[in-house]
Amino acid sequence: ETRVSAAAAHAEPLVVAHRGASAHAPENTLAAIDKADRLGFRWVENDVQRTKDGVLVIVHDDNLKRTTNVEEVFPGRAPWKVKDFTAKEIAKLDAGSWFGAKYKGARVPTLTQYMNRVARNGQRLVLEIKKPELYPGIERDTLRVLRETGWLERHRVRHDLVVQSFSADSVRQVRALRPDIKTGFLGTPAVAELPKYAKFADQINSTHTSISDGYVAAIQRLKGPHGKRLEIFTWTVDEPAAARRVAGFGVNGIITNKPDVVRAALRH
Ligand code: G3P
Ligand code: CA
Repeated sequence: ETRVSAAAAHAEPLVVAHRGASAHAPENTLAAIDKADRLGFRWVENDVQRTKDGVLVIVHDDNLKRTTNVEEVFPGRAPWKVKDFTAKEIAKLDAGSWFGAKYKGARVPTLTQYMNRVARNGQRLVLEIKKPELYPGIERDTLRVLRETGWLERHRVRHDLVVQSFSADSVRQVRALRPDIKTGFLGTPAVAELPKYAKFADQINSTHTSISDGYVAAIQRLKGPHGKRLEIFTWTVDEPAAARRVAGFGVNGIITNKPDVVRAALRH
């Protein structure tokens, strides 16, 4: 029997480890990107927010409760928002124990620590500016850290980095500040609206339950701000059948908590 996979007509999508290999290690920690590295994944995704004293840190929720022991360490500081703690305070938190005893003592990384580790591992990054409405000026702050850590050098900017956000305004600001950076808009705009987004975003990164083969084709027909075809990295795909479905649509990337599961699904 000859079987032609639905995905065979397209290049295999890039597999991006969401918040690091976050099914295997605590999300958004250095342990999670190291785990992705050990599994053989070059691309990782993260979420960037800002402390009370202006330091950029890697954490998904705007509240520290779910992924750290903040309630124990700072019992009187409800509601435990990232923006209400200094970097020094956040550095005291355990961001690993909630996931498993083995990860006790894992920290919330600063963006600087994180970028240095991604570079050391030879990895590439989809950096998400999370809830920018809470952090005015976070785009400029992010670019400053990227510059300081060597991530705005020509080769890196071209090949190793995408900056994305659910906020179109934030993506536009990043582009205005550094037009050479590759950007992504998180969402599923109507097809008729896509040309507007193509003016400032190189990628349209939609949740996988919202897309079809026609939608992927509509994205990829357009050219982005750098004159290249728009791409789509879809998220968060953890099931083999869902991974095969979106690969069949020809998506450029699949963002997943389980990069090993997705890779196996695409190759069998
Ligand atoms: O990279 C896309 C995805 O991470 C967006 O959703 O909530 O996981 O940041 P969220
Ligand atoms: Ca994210």
